[in-house]
Amino acid sequence: MDKQEIKKRIAKLKKEIDRHRYLYHVLDKIEISDAALDSLKNELFKLEMDNPEFITPDSPTQRIGGKPLDKFIKVIHSRPMMSLFDSFSPEDMKDWEDRIAKLVPGRTFDYYCELKLDGLAVTLKYEKGVFREGATRGDGKIGEDVTQNLKTIESIPLRLREPEEGEFKKIGLDIGQIKQIKTALEKGEIEIRGETVMTRRVFDELNKKYKKEGKPLLANPRNGAAGSIRQLDPKLSAERKLSFYVYALATDFGFKSHEQEHKAAEILGFKVLKENKYCKNLSEVYKFHDYWEKNREKMPFECDGVVVVVNNLKLWPVLGIVGKGPRYMMAYKFAALEATTKIKEVVWQVGRTGILTPTAVMEPARVGGVTITHATLHNMDEIKRLGVKIGDTVIIQRAGDVIPKVVKVLPNLRSGEEREIRVPKKCPMCESEVVKVPGEVAYRCPNTNCYAVNLRRLTHWASKNAVDIEGLGPKIIEQLVKEGLVRDISDFYTLTIGDLGPLERFAEKSADNLVKAISDRKKIDLNRFIYGLGIRHVGEESAIELAKRFGSLEKIKKASPEEIGGIYDFGNVMAKSIFGWFNDKHNLELLEKLEKNGVRTKTLAGGGKKQVLAGKTFVLTGTLVGLTREEAKVKIRELGGDVSSSVSKNTDFIVAGAEPGSKYEKGEKLGVKIIDEKEFLKMI
Ligand code: IVH
Repeated sequence: MDKQEIKKRIAKLKKEIDRHRYLYHVLDKIEISDAALDSLKNELFKLEMDNPEFITPDSPTQRIGGKPLDKFIKVIHSRPMMSLFDSFSPEDMKDWEDRIAKLVPGRTFDYYCELKLDGLAVTLKYEKGVFREGATRGDGKIGEDVTQNLKTIESIPLRLREPEEGEFKKIGLDIGQIKQIKTALEKGEIEIRGETVMTRRVFDELNKKYKKEGKPLLANPRNGAAGSIRQLDPKLSAERKLSFYVYALATDFGFKSHEQEHKAAEILGFKVLKENKYCKNLSEVYKFHDYWEKNREKMPFECDGVVVVVNNLKLWPVLGIVGKGPRYMMAYKFAALEATTKIKEVVWQVGRTGILTPTAVMEPARVGGVTITHATLHNMDEIKRLGVKIGDTVIIQRAGDVIPKVVKVLPNLRSGEEREIRVPKKCPMCESEVVKVPGEVAYRCPNTNCYAVNLRRLTHWASKNAVDIEGLGPKIIEQLVKEGLVRDISDFYTLTIGDLGPLERFAEKSADNLVKAISDRKKIDLNRFIYGLGIRHVGEESAIELAKRFGSLEKIKKASPEEIGGIYDFGNVMAKSIFGWFNDKHNLELLEKLEKNGVRTKTLAGGGKKQVLAGKTFVLTGTLVGLTREEAKVKIRELGGDVSSSVSKNTDFIVAGAEPGSKYEKGEKLGVKIIDEKEFLKMI
């Protein structure tokens, strides 16, 4: 994008993000998920980082916190309810630890890890042990009084529990501290903070009920919890059966650790997540995070990360606060299950019964911790329902182990360059006329051989005597075709671990292995490459002969039928077939795609031209007379040499044509051997 386009994109993103903010925070309406909105904010943030001249004070990236609704009485928090800083990788976490370590030199840290519940934060005040006032976070300084609604939550005690003899002592509190808590229970105030959440089960049941009653559905469990708490009628909030989990005992009783603080809250009658865990260092934190990232579905409610807290409370005042949150806590987020990306093109896949299925090929996007490039579009009805076009910015979703799908289009981000998605008139495989299946949405290729022929073509390319890609057998290939991930051989080279992950039989490890095996075979012996193309009449032996005679793909492409037929043993029919293949528009496009996807051919070792320039690096400068620069490069490479665009001490020869450039002088300085065109021609 040039500067003008970047500026336009930034303006569009700002407007769209702000629209969703208003809908969500002010009107309590939701159109897209948090993950999708985060993804847009992320794009904006990156564009602004790279182009700081376009940052304006009204950009959503400059905002901290939201503003409370007017319908409740406002409550000024005794101490601010802050936010957390986010981390997305072990590297981020290590950076954080390094940063805080600088503030307390010579100290090591241990941590208390809590699952980050996706609900609504509230603070509860108990006077003389009795629940007096509960408030939402609001903008962090002023919240809303939602006491009546919080009272409907059974896990919030209306009176704090009287500790039994010795309970506080057991968790390491001394006599002074115990007395302090008891006094607060009798005549003082105790403040507790935590998260109200709705379980997925309650969420599903409520939505079922609402659907039957024709009421609007809840967007997600978090919205269910938030909506319930900020509901003017406590009866309605009661039917939503929320839970409350503590994450802080805000009143200071001189606790030693955050873990101890949780234990004290538990004694006072609150629910503390039993999954929370003490971790003695960052590697234990990583294990905890990775386990719960994979197993978050096991929790009855939604979690979006791990809150990692410096456990030693003595360090908190030293580490302090910066901006919106404390330095001693970090939200180590789980990978989002939704993201935004752009659709680059739509490819049509022919299935076993000839039905054509559209797949979106997208700019790589990270979803659920992996990068994906493909998403299914199902059929023309789905395309119409989504209103999706090529070039659109879309929200993609990858839930659990299913193929990623496009769930929404963001039409406000259109540039005007988008194109309609149309069913191809001819089958993309065999060029038969595509027909519409009567009475159905589907279109199909009437050629009954089409699917099988394509599978055979793909399998042949990966087979032992051709390109030899380990682990890419017929069954896997069929799966890839069915899911719309692979249509021709060039598509193998765009597959990502994330694309393969959701397929049956693919554990993370085997997806990793296959992507690696394919990438390892990007440099292919020319003869294997030719054989792999599956040209009629060209077997392994003739592929070797072709490779030997011509030495490069470029030369084969240019060869005349006579030149090809001139190879010993090559008949007329064969020569025609080869010539025909390399002069077919579709085949040339395929070769181009292979090249674009990083596939390269190697000259046959021991065969072809003698590798007289093996190990030598050439730099070309000035104008050559007898041949073009491109031709010179091809020659050098055919003979085993390398061509570089810049001079260094590793350069063996500079070929200087007429009016050489600065490379000539640099070469002279470095003492590189400089030859003229005549000498060069002799060499080749
Ligand atoms: S500690 C200084 N602990 O995350 C911030 N927050 O992004 C104090 N949350 O508003 C919050 N689980 O709604 C903390 N175990 C946990 C949490 C948690 C969920 C939410 C909370 C807070 C938001 C901050």
